[in-house]
Amino acid sequence: MTPLSKYLTLADVDVAGLKVLVRADLNVPLDGGEVADDFRIRAALPTLEALVRSGAAVTVCSHLGRPHGVDPALSLAPVAQRMDSLTEYDVRFDGPGDINVLENTRFLDGETSNHPSTAEELADGFDLFVQDAFGSVHRAHASTVGVAELIRSVAGLLLDAELSALGRLLDGTERPYTVVLGGAKVSDKLAVIENLLPRVDRMLIGGGMCFTFLRSLGFEVGASLVEEPMLDKVAAIVEADADEHKIHLPEDFVAGERFAEDTAHDVVAVDGLPRGWIGLDIGPSTGNAFAGFVRDSASVFWNGPMGVFEWEQFRAGTEAVARAISECQGFTAVGGGDSVAAMRLLGLEGSVSHLSTGGGAGLELLEGKILPGVAVLERWVR
Ligand code: 3PG
Ligand code: MG
Repeated sequence: MTPLSKYLTLADVDVAGLKVLVRADLNVPLDGGEVADDFRIRAALPTLEALVRSGAAVTVCSHLGRPHGVDPALSLAPVAQRMDSLTEYDVRFDGPGDINVLENTRFLDGETSNHPSTAEELADGFDLFVQDAFGSVHRAHASTVGVAELIRSVAGLLLDAELSALGRLLDGTERPYTVVLGGAKVSDKLAVIENLLPRVDRMLIGGGMCFTFLRSLGFEVGASLVEEPMLDKVAAIVEADADEHKIHLPEDFVAGERFAEDTAHDVVAVDGLPRGWIGLDIGPSTGNAFAGFVRDSASVFWNGPMGVFEWEQFRAGTEAVARAISECQGFTAVGGGDSVAAMRLLGLEGSVSHLSTGGGAGLELLEGKILPGVAVLERWVR
Protein backbone atom coordinates (compact mmCIF):
# COMPACT_ATOMS: atom_id res chain seq x y z
CA MET A 1 0.00 0.00 0.00
CA THR A 2 0.98 3.59 -0.45
CA PRO A 3 1.66 5.81 2.53
CA LEU A 4 -1.10 8.07 1.20
CA SER A 5 -3.64 9.36 3.64
CA LYS A 6 -7.33 9.74 3.19
CA TYR A 7 -8.57 13.22 2.46
CA LEU A 8 -11.60 15.09 1.18
CA THR A 9 -11.42 17.03 -2.08
CA LEU A 10 -13.16 20.07 -3.56
CA ALA A 11 -15.88 17.72 -4.80
CA ASP A 12 -16.88 17.02 -1.18
CA VAL A 13 -17.61 20.60 -0.15
CA ASP A 14 -19.99 23.34 -1.20
CA VAL A 15 -17.78 26.40 -1.24
CA ALA A 16 -20.35 28.99 -2.34
CA GLY A 17 -20.08 32.02 -0.09
CA LEU A 18 -17.12 30.64 1.83
CA LYS A 19 -13.88 32.47 2.54
CA VAL A 20 -11.28 30.02 1.30
CA LEU A 21 -7.53 30.02 1.90
CA VAL A 22 -5.56 28.01 -0.65
CA ARG A 23 -1.95 26.95 -0.06
CA ALA A 24 -0.31 26.66 -3.47
CA ASP A 25 3.34 26.10 -4.33
CA LEU A 26 4.17 29.31 -6.17
CA ASN A 27 7.86 28.91 -5.42
CA VAL A 28 9.04 29.73 -8.95
CA PRO A 29 12.41 30.85 -10.27
CA LEU A 30 12.78 34.62 -10.62
CA ASP A 31 15.16 36.46 -12.90
CA GLY A 32 15.70 40.16 -12.39
CA GLY A 33 12.45 40.45 -10.44
CA GLU A 34 10.45 38.68 -13.16
CA VAL A 35 8.99 35.17 -13.11
CA ALA A 36 11.41 33.04 -15.13
CA ASP A 37 9.23 29.91 -15.29
CA ASP A 38 5.48 29.94 -14.66
CA PHE A 39 4.85 26.16 -14.70
CA ARG A 40 3.81 26.11 -11.04
CA ILE A 41 1.63 29.21 -11.41
CA ARG A 42 -0.26 27.62 -14.31
CA ALA A 43 -0.57 24.37 -12.37
CA ALA A 44 -2.15 26.22 -9.43
CA LEU A 45 -4.83 27.92 -11.54
CA PRO A 46 -7.40 25.13 -12.05
CA THR A 47 -8.16 24.94 -8.31
CA LEU A 48 -8.23 28.71 -7.89
CA GLU A 49 -10.48 29.18 -10.92
CA ALA A 50 -12.82 26.36 -9.85
CA LEU A 51 -13.22 28.00 -6.45
CA VAL A 52 -13.98 31.43 -7.96
CA ARG A 53 -16.51 29.86 -10.35
CA SER A 54 -18.19 28.13 -7.41
CA GLY A 55 -18.69 31.40 -5.60
CA ALA A 56 -15.90 31.28 -3.02
CA ALA A 57 -13.90 34.33 -1.92
CA VAL A 58 -10.41 33.09 -2.78
CA THR A 59 -7.10 33.91 -1.12
CA VAL A 60 -3.92 32.06 -2.04
CA CYS A 61 -0.68 31.87 -0.11
CA SER A 62 2.76 30.38 -0.83
CA HIS A 63 6.38 30.57 0.11
CA LEU A 64 8.99 31.81 -2.36
CA GLY A 65 12.65 31.00 -1.95
CA ARG A 66 14.32 30.66 1.43
CA PRO A 67 14.34 34.17 2.92
CA HIS A 68 15.57 34.96 6.41
CA GLY A 69 12.89 37.43 7.45
CA VAL A 70 11.41 39.95 5.04
CA ASP A 71 13.28 40.19 1.74
CA PRO A 72 11.70 42.40 -0.93
CA ALA A 73 13.52 40.43 -3.65
CA LEU A 74 11.35 37.44 -2.72
CA SER A 75 7.97 39.19 -2.73
CA LEU A 76 5.02 37.35 -4.28
CA ALA A 77 4.06 40.54 -6.16
CA PRO A 78 5.57 39.46 -9.52
CA VAL A 79 3.95 36.04 -9.09
CA ALA A 80 0.53 37.67 -8.63
CA GLN A 81 1.13 39.81 -11.69
CA ARG A 82 2.00 36.77 -13.82
CA MET A 83 -0.98 34.87 -12.45
CA ASP A 84 -3.27 37.74 -13.42
CA SER A 85 -1.99 37.57 -17.00
CA LEU A 86 -2.68 33.82 -17.15
CA THR A 87 -6.31 33.88 -16.05
CA GLU A 88 -9.45 35.74 -17.07
CA TYR A 89 -10.04 36.44 -13.38
CA ASP A 90 -8.79 39.50 -11.58
CA VAL A 91 -5.76 38.58 -9.47
CA ARG A 92 -4.55 41.11 -6.91
CA PHE A 93 -1.47 41.10 -4.73
CA ASP A 94 -2.50 41.72 -1.14
CA GLY A 95 -5.84 43.12 -2.18
CA PRO A 96 -9.39 41.95 -2.90
CA GLY A 97 -9.62 40.70 -6.49
CA ASP A 98 -11.30 37.48 -7.59
CA ILE A 99 -8.09 35.92 -6.32
CA ASN A 100 -6.12 37.60 -3.57
CA VAL A 101 -2.42 36.64 -3.39
CA LEU A 102 -0.82 36.97 0.05
CA GLU A 103 2.81 37.95 0.65
CA ASN A 104 5.50 35.26 1.00
CA THR A 105 4.57 33.03 3.96
CA ARG A 106 8.27 32.74 4.87
CA PHE A 107 8.31 36.43 5.75
CA LEU A 108 6.27 35.40 8.82
CA ASP A 109 8.07 34.44 12.01
CA GLY A 110 6.91 30.99 12.94
CA GLU A 111 6.15 29.79 9.40
CA THR A 112 8.91 27.21 9.10
CA SER A 113 8.77 26.30 12.81
CA ASN A 114 4.97 25.90 12.50
CA HIS A 115 4.32 28.16 15.49
CA PRO A 116 0.68 27.99 16.62
CA SER A 117 0.25 31.77 16.57
CA THR A 118 1.43 31.93 12.96
CA ALA A 119 -1.01 29.23 11.96
CA GLU A 120 -3.79 31.13 13.78
CA GLU A 121 -2.85 34.34 12.02
CA LEU A 122 -3.01 32.60 8.64
CA ALA A 123 -6.31 30.84 9.36
CA ASP A 124 -7.99 33.92 10.82
CA GLY A 125 -11.23 34.79 9.02
CA PHE A 126 -11.28 31.76 6.71
CA ASP A 127 -13.95 29.05 6.58
CA LEU A 128 -12.01 26.48 4.59
CA PHE A 129 -8.39 25.59 3.80
CA VAL A 130 -7.51 24.00 0.47
CA GLN A 131 -4.15 22.24 0.39
CA ASP A 132 -2.92 22.34 -3.20
CA ALA A 133 0.83 22.87 -2.70
CA PHE A 134 2.04 19.43 -3.71
CA GLY A 135 5.62 20.70 -3.98
CA SER A 136 5.53 21.76 -0.31
CA VAL A 137 3.61 18.99 1.46
CA HIS A 138 6.84 17.41 2.70
CA ARG A 139 7.30 20.54 4.87
CA ALA A 140 5.53 20.73 8.25
CA HIS A 141 5.17 24.49 8.25
CA ALA A 142 2.40 26.79 9.55
CA SER A 143 1.00 27.29 6.05
CA THR A 144 1.15 23.59 5.13
CA VAL A 145 0.23 21.84 8.39
CA GLY A 146 -0.60 24.35 11.15
CA VAL A 147 -3.54 25.95 9.33
CA ALA A 148 -4.97 22.57 8.40
CA GLU A 149 -5.13 21.65 12.09
CA LEU A 150 -7.31 24.68 12.80
CA ILE A 151 -9.94 24.89 10.05
CA ARG A 152 -11.74 22.39 7.84
CA SER A 153 -9.32 21.34 5.13
CA VAL A 154 -9.51 19.53 1.82
CA ALA A 155 -7.16 18.70 -1.05
CA GLY A 156 -7.17 20.81 -4.20
CA LEU A 157 -7.23 19.49 -7.76
CA LEU A 158 -3.46 19.62 -8.29
CA LEU A 159 -2.61 17.86 -5.04
CA ASP A 160 -5.16 15.14 -5.77
CA ALA A 161 -3.84 14.67 -9.33
CA GLU A 162 -0.23 14.50 -8.13
CA LEU A 163 -1.00 11.97 -5.40
CA SER A 164 -3.00 9.78 -7.79
CA ALA A 165 -0.33 9.86 -10.50
CA LEU A 166 2.72 9.37 -8.29
CA GLY A 167 0.85 7.01 -5.95
CA ARG A 168 0.37 4.71 -8.93
CA LEU A 169 4.16 4.38 -9.20
CA LEU A 170 4.23 2.83 -5.72
CA ASP A 171 1.20 0.67 -6.01
CA GLY A 172 1.32 -1.97 -8.71
CA THR A 173 1.43 0.11 -11.85
CA GLU A 174 1.40 -1.63 -15.26
CA ARG A 175 4.55 -3.49 -16.29
CA PRO A 176 7.11 -3.43 -17.67
CA TYR A 177 7.82 -0.56 -15.29
CA THR A 178 10.96 1.48 -15.87
CA VAL A 179 12.44 4.16 -13.64
CA VAL A 180 15.06 6.53 -15.05
CA LEU A 181 17.14 8.44 -12.52
CA GLY A 182 19.75 11.11 -13.08
CA GLY A 183 20.90 14.37 -11.61
CA ALA A 184 24.06 15.22 -9.79
CA LYS A 185 23.79 13.54 -6.42
CA VAL A 186 23.22 9.91 -5.62
CA SER A 187 22.65 10.87 -1.96
CA ASP A 188 19.41 12.64 -3.01
CA LYS A 189 18.14 9.52 -4.74
CA LEU A 190 19.39 6.66 -2.57
CA ALA A 191 16.16 6.25 -0.57
CA VAL A 192 14.09 6.35 -3.76
CA ILE A 193 16.31 3.72 -5.36
CA GLU A 194 15.91 1.46 -2.33
CA ASN A 195 12.12 1.89 -2.17
CA LEU A 196 11.43 1.58 -5.91
CA LEU A 197 13.90 -1.13 -6.89
CA PRO A 198 11.71 -4.01 -5.61
CA ARG A 199 8.74 -2.56 -7.52
CA VAL A 200 10.30 -1.95 -10.95
CA ASP A 201 11.53 -4.08 -13.83
CA ARG A 202 14.39 -1.77 -14.79
CA MET A 203 16.17 1.11 -13.18
CA LEU A 204 18.24 3.17 -15.63
CA ILE A 205 20.85 5.36 -13.99
CA GLY A 206 22.57 8.28 -15.73
CA GLY A 207 23.55 11.82 -14.84
CA GLY A 208 26.30 12.77 -12.42
CA MET A 209 25.09 10.18 -9.94
CA CYS A 210 26.04 7.25 -12.19
CA PHE A 211 29.74 7.88 -11.56
CA THR A 212 29.45 6.90 -7.92
CA PHE A 213 27.96 3.60 -9.12
CA LEU A 214 30.69 3.11 -11.72
CA ARG A 215 33.43 4.02 -9.25
CA SER A 216 32.02 1.46 -6.79
CA LEU A 217 32.37 -1.12 -9.58
CA GLY A 218 36.03 -0.20 -9.98
CA PHE A 219 35.90 1.95 -13.12
CA GLU A 220 38.21 4.94 -13.52
CA VAL A 221 35.91 7.96 -13.63
CA GLY A 222 38.52 10.72 -13.85
CA ALA A 223 37.25 14.08 -12.65
CA SER A 224 33.60 12.99 -12.81
CA LEU A 225 31.34 13.53 -9.81
CA VAL A 226 31.79 10.89 -7.14
CA GLU A 227 30.24 10.97 -3.66
CA GLU A 228 32.88 9.06 -1.72
CA PRO A 229 30.75 8.57 1.43
CA MET A 230 28.09 6.84 -0.68
CA LEU A 231 30.41 4.27 -2.27
CA ASP A 232 29.74 1.44 0.18
CA LYS A 233 25.96 1.84 0.12
CA VAL A 234 25.94 2.00 -3.65
CA ALA A 235 28.14 -1.08 -3.92
CA ALA A 236 25.73 -2.97 -1.65
CA ILE A 237 22.75 -1.98 -3.81
CA VAL A 238 24.51 -3.14 -6.99
CA GLU A 239 25.56 -6.39 -5.35
CA ALA A 240 22.03 -7.12 -4.13
CA ASP A 241 20.81 -6.50 -7.69
CA ALA A 242 23.31 -8.90 -9.27
CA ASP A 243 20.81 -11.75 -9.81
CA GLU A 244 17.87 -9.76 -11.11
CA HIS A 245 20.03 -7.16 -12.83
CA LYS A 246 17.40 -4.43 -12.86
CA ILE A 247 19.96 -1.63 -12.57
CA HIS A 248 21.40 -0.49 -15.89
CA LEU A 249 24.41 1.82 -15.94
CA PRO A 250 25.90 3.69 -18.92
CA GLU A 251 28.22 1.82 -21.28
CA ASP A 252 29.49 5.02 -22.90
CA PHE A 253 29.70 8.76 -22.23
CA VAL A 254 30.28 12.13 -23.71
CA ALA A 255 33.32 13.27 -21.75
CA GLY A 256 34.90 16.70 -21.61
CA GLU A 257 38.44 17.80 -20.89
CA ARG A 258 37.07 20.11 -18.22
CA PHE A 259 33.73 21.28 -16.82
CA ALA A 260 32.91 24.04 -19.29
CA GLU A 261 30.38 24.64 -22.03
CA ASP A 262 33.05 25.00 -24.72
CA THR A 263 35.39 22.24 -23.55
CA ALA A 264 36.93 19.71 -25.94
CA HIS A 265 34.73 16.61 -25.77
CA ASP A 266 34.45 13.12 -27.16
CA VAL A 267 32.40 9.94 -26.94
CA VAL A 268 34.22 7.32 -24.85
CA ALA A 269 33.47 3.81 -23.62
CA VAL A 270 32.80 3.37 -19.90
CA ASP A 271 36.31 1.95 -19.43
CA GLY A 272 38.01 4.47 -21.71
CA LEU A 273 37.78 7.82 -19.99
CA PRO A 274 40.98 9.82 -20.70
CA ARG A 275 42.88 10.62 -17.52
CA GLY A 276 41.48 13.68 -15.74
CA TRP A 277 38.49 14.06 -18.08
CA ILE A 278 34.96 14.41 -16.80
CA GLY A 279 31.78 12.63 -17.86
CA LEU A 280 29.18 15.24 -18.88
CA ASP A 281 26.47 13.14 -20.57
CA ILE A 282 25.60 9.52 -21.27
CA GLY A 283 26.84 8.40 -24.68
CA PRO A 284 24.86 7.50 -27.81
CA SER A 285 24.83 3.71 -27.22
CA THR A 286 23.55 4.25 -23.70
CA GLY A 287 21.02 6.80 -24.93
CA ASN A 288 19.70 4.29 -27.48
CA ALA A 289 19.53 1.49 -24.94
CA PHE A 290 17.76 3.65 -22.35
CA ALA A 291 15.34 4.99 -24.99
CA GLY A 292 14.49 1.44 -26.08
CA PHE A 293 13.69 0.39 -22.51
CA VAL A 294 11.56 3.50 -21.99
CA ARG A 295 9.63 3.16 -25.27
CA ASP A 296 8.57 -0.43 -24.65
CA SER A 297 7.47 0.18 -21.04
CA ALA A 298 3.90 0.24 -19.79
CA SER A 299 4.89 2.64 -16.97
CA VAL A 300 7.80 5.06 -16.72
CA PHE A 301 8.98 7.47 -14.05
CA TRP A 302 11.83 9.85 -14.82
CA ASN A 303 13.60 12.19 -12.40
CA GLY A 304 16.93 13.85 -13.13
CA PRO A 305 18.75 14.76 -16.35
CA MET A 306 21.23 12.35 -17.96
CA GLY A 307 23.89 15.05 -18.37
CA VAL A 308 24.54 18.78 -18.35
CA PHE A 309 21.56 19.38 -20.64
CA GLU A 310 21.72 23.16 -20.24
CA TRP A 311 24.80 22.95 -22.54
CA GLU A 312 23.82 21.83 -25.99
CA GLN A 313 26.70 19.44 -26.64
CA PHE A 314 25.82 17.52 -23.46
CA ARG A 315 22.06 17.41 -24.07
CA ALA A 316 21.70 14.34 -26.30
CA GLY A 317 21.31 11.79 -23.50
CA THR A 318 18.61 13.77 -21.73
CA GLU A 319 16.94 14.41 -25.08
CA ALA A 320 16.98 10.68 -25.94
CA VAL A 321 15.19 9.86 -22.69
CA ALA A 322 12.76 12.77 -23.06
CA ARG A 323 11.83 11.80 -26.64
CA ALA A 324 11.41 8.14 -25.69
CA ILE A 325 9.07 9.18 -22.88
CA SER A 326 7.02 11.25 -25.30
CA GLU A 327 6.82 8.23 -27.64
CA CYS A 328 5.99 5.70 -24.93
CA GLN A 329 2.36 4.52 -25.16
CA GLY A 330 2.17 3.65 -21.47
CA PHE A 331 1.74 5.75 -18.33
CA THR A 332 4.59 8.27 -18.07
CA ALA A 333 5.41 10.55 -15.17
CA VAL A 334 8.22 13.10 -15.00
CA GLY A 335 9.26 14.79 -11.75
CA GLY A 336 11.96 17.17 -10.59
CA GLY A 337 12.55 20.70 -11.84
CA ASP A 338 15.34 19.81 -14.29
CA SER A 339 13.56 16.92 -16.01
CA VAL A 340 10.35 18.91 -16.30
CA ALA A 341 12.36 21.85 -17.66
CA ALA A 342 14.00 19.53 -20.21
CA MET A 343 10.61 18.23 -21.41
CA ARG A 344 9.44 21.80 -21.81
CA LEU A 345 12.67 22.98 -23.46
CA LEU A 346 12.13 20.26 -26.08
CA GLY A 347 8.43 21.12 -26.45
CA LEU A 348 7.42 17.64 -25.27
CA GLU A 349 5.40 18.57 -22.17
CA GLY A 350 2.12 17.75 -23.93
CA SER A 351 3.04 14.12 -24.50
CA VAL A 352 3.61 13.03 -20.88
CA SER A 353 0.84 11.48 -18.78
CA HIS A 354 1.91 13.46 -15.70
CA LEU A 355 4.38 16.32 -15.28
CA SER A 356 4.91 16.78 -11.56
CA THR A 357 5.25 20.15 -9.85
CA GLY A 358 7.07 18.52 -6.96
CA GLY A 359 10.79 17.97 -6.59
CA GLY A 360 11.62 16.95 -3.04
CA ALA A 361 7.97 16.21 -2.22
CA GLY A 362 7.67 13.76 -5.11
CA LEU A 363 10.87 12.01 -4.08
CA GLU A 364 9.75 11.74 -0.46
CA LEU A 365 6.45 10.25 -1.61
CA LEU A 366 8.31 7.67 -3.70
CA GLU A 367 10.64 6.98 -0.78
CA GLY A 368 7.52 5.83 1.05
CA LYS A 369 7.58 8.70 3.54
CA ILE A 370 4.50 10.25 5.07
CA LEU A 371 3.90 13.75 3.71
CA PRO A 372 2.83 15.89 6.68
CA GLY A 373 0.86 18.37 4.56
CA VAL A 374 -1.26 15.49 3.26
CA ALA A 375 -1.48 13.44 6.44
CA VAL A 376 -2.99 16.41 8.31
CA LEU A 377 -6.00 16.39 5.98
CA GLU A 378 -7.13 13.04 7.32
CA ARG A 379 -8.60 14.54 10.48
CA TRP A 380 -11.32 16.22 8.40
CA VAL A 381 -12.53 12.95 6.87
CA ARG A 382 -15.68 11.89 8.71
C1 3PG B 1 10.45 23.20 -3.90
O1 3PG B 1 10.72 24.06 -4.74
O2 3PG B 1 11.01 22.08 -3.87
C2 3PG B 1 9.36 23.47 -2.93
O3 3PG B 1 8.72 24.66 -3.22
C3 3PG B 1 9.87 23.43 -1.51
O4 3PG B 1 10.78 24.47 -1.28
P1 3PG B 1 11.79 24.38 0.00
O5 3PG B 1 12.73 23.24 -0.33
O6 3PG B 1 12.45 25.71 0.09
O7 3PG B 1 10.93 24.05 1.19
MG1 MG C 1 -6.49 38.34 -15.18
